[in-house]
Amino acid sequence: MSVLIAPSILSADFAALGDAIAAVQRGGADLIHVDVMDGHFVPNITIGPPVVKSIKRVATVPLDVHLMIQEPDRFIDAFAEAGAAMIAVHVEVLPHLHRTVHAIKALGVKAGVVLNPSTPVAALQEVAAEVDYVMVMSVNPGFGGQTFIPRSESKVREVRALLDAAGNRGPVEIDGGVDKTNVARIVTAGARIIVAGNAIFGAADAEQATRELKAAALGALASAAAR
Ligand code: DX5
Ligand code: ZN
Repeated sequence: MSVLIAPSILSADFAALGDAIAAVQRGGADLIHVDVMDGHFVPNITIGPPVVKSIKRVATVPLDVHLMIQEPDRFIDAFAEAGAAMIAVHVEVLPHLHRTVHAIKALGVKAGVVLNPSTPVAALQEVAAEVDYVMVMSVNPGFGGQTFIPRSESKVREVRALLDAAGNRGPVEIDGGVDKTNVARIVTAGARIIVAGNAIFGAADAEQATRELKAAALGALASAAAR
């Protein structure tokens, strides 16, 4: 698999989301990453299904929805209905993770599971064969623009090894503090979906920032393949 770039609209101007999405798509965005926060699981509140539905109308790439909410089971249908192509849920809030993963898949949506920085990879052991992708949080979720936690790089390797051992070729996604200076290491570690908010929407030109991040990620993939 190649590397996919998923700009996080968390750092975009919410009054001009259509323009923000169009810009990153021109820059080569492969997905749009949508951060949903409820003020309970994380100390911030963002957006819900109605906004996802509006984004879906203007986006030409799939929507990668990241649920940072206390009770994801109650809202999975609504996000699928709103147009999510991928829904990721946090293992920390789900006592019945296996059931939730299958509930997402039953809606025809790709099912991802997310690990907070303090959550061990072993939490995935029993669902490793079932998930469509795994997201490694490389910051504590809640806010954009935080610093990448260095330990996350080896965590990506560990998750990749766990998925491989389970015969699962689904991608590892990385979320938090990624920019063009660290993306190569992260891709080399095995990440194949790269979320970036501040590095793209904090830049003067989001289109150009997307293009540069993608070039850096693809460059790292090419050198990894050549080794
Ligand atoms: C963090 C979110 C993000 C993150 C990405 O809670 O899940 O997707 O903010 O933004 P940057 O790239 O700014 O860390
Ligand atoms: Zn996210």
